[in-house]
Amino acid sequence: MTLQHWQYAFPFLLLFLVMLGACAAPPPTQNAAAIMAGDETAGEKLFNQTQQIAGVPTCSTCHATTSDAANIVGPSLSGIAARAANRSPDQSAEEYLRTSIISPNNYIVEGYMAGVMVQTYGMALTPKQIDDLIAYMLTLE
Ligand code: HEC
Repeated sequence: MTLQHWQYAFPFLLLFLVMLGACAAPPPTQNAAAIMAGDETAGEKLFNQTQQIAGVPTCSTCHATTSDAANIVGPSLSGIAARAANRSPDQSAEEYLRTSIISPNNYIVEGYMAGVMVQTYGMALTPKQIDDLIAYMLTLE
């Protein structure tokens, strides 16, 4: 049996479909970034939640987030995104905020005392919750 004209096109059609598939799939790095980045809306909700998380009070118990609000037990986090970038020469804003949650005594804000902020968030919060809180705090400019 001899091949019909249109049958020669078949391998090219296959190749075309494979290439189309490769273009349609999102690049893997972009996907990973989307998974890694916290969700600021979920972070805001968690920050302001009145109910305790795993037996510890949430952030809004001690922190206001607006500039006109009085400092509660801790400093207002209004403008924290910009301050966090300058707190430590070898930490990005994101790294500083992560350390602030997990090891609050690593850096003590001037005028405040060590040991007042809850020290157990590293255990009480899931990595996702910490990412969400960081994403939210990075919106406080
Ligand atoms: C019991 C009160 C209390 C709670 C609850 C609390 N904090 Fe704090 N936080 C403090 C105090 C006091 C300080 C200042 C002393 C220090 O630097 O540790 C502080 C400091 C910080 C700082 C550093 C601010 C700066 O200007 O560098 C960040 C960021 C922060 N807290 C985030 C959080 C987040 C997020 C939560 C919730 C997961 C939280 N805090 C819960 C009391 C609290």
